[in-house]
Amino acid sequence: MRVLVVENYEEMSREAASLFQIRIEEKPGLVLGLATGSTPIGTYKELINRYQVGKIRFQQASVFNLDEYCGLDKNHEQSYARFMEENFFRSIDVDRKNTFIPNGNAKDRQAECERYDTLIRERGGIDLQLLGIGENGHIGFNEPNDLLSAGTHQVELEQGTIEANSRFFVTREEVPKSALTMGMGTILKAKEIVLLASGAKKADAIQGLLSGKISTKNPASFLQLHPRVTVIIDREIADAIKLKQDVA
Ligand code: F6R
Repeated sequence: MRVLVVENYEEMSREAASLFQIRIEEKPGLVLGLATGSTPIGTYKELINRYQVGKIRFQQASVFNLDEYCGLDKNHEQSYARFMEENFFRSIDVDRKNTFIPNGNAKDRQAECERYDTLIRERGGIDLQLLGIGENGHIGFNEPNDLLSAGTHQVELEQGTIEANSRFFVTREEVPKSALTMGMGTILKAKEIVLLASGAKKADAIQGLLSGKISTKNPASFLQLHPRVTVIIDREIADAIKLKQDVA
């Protein structure tokens, strides 16, 4: 596992964008796995800037997103489909026929999850997967648990997550109670993974990820089994981890 310590969020975003740029230059038809949330927004902005000055093209690339809420229309302003549209897709030349996200509104959710994994397989698998990380070590919506799921699956959101999300919705009833997410196996099958984290509140999760131990209580720790992972963290996280090690 390669760990890159950068000064701040902006540098993290530039480093991640550079990795994407290199991989797309090597293989224009790259199959990307992408994430939502605050962490990758800077990377998407940086990629958009590079696209606008002609340094990168996405015309031949495909994108599979990690997760989507259940029960929200894809045009709902809090859906992850809309997030991707607004923060990335509408500003680049990716072909919308090649962008995929689990359909959280599918009648048969189990069939939808199987369809999604099949689609990824048929496209030759994910070449480069971008990940953020939850404060509890979750990746995608794979929350700490006794058992983790391998394939794309439906998860019931934890009460804490529902409450945290309620700030984005007008009424509490609107907040989704479940989501579809790529599973641990779907993520670990990616040929290369880059995980980004910034801010001291992610320090515990990153410490678990770098601990040399693997636990279902920190799903990100399973990334230690993968042969090609780059973790980009900011100085705040690196200092917080060091402080804890010094005290221990
Ligand atoms: C997003 C996702 C989540 C986030 C994680 C961190 O598609 O799957 O695992 O990456 O919750 O979120 P932020 O970046 O908002 O701190």
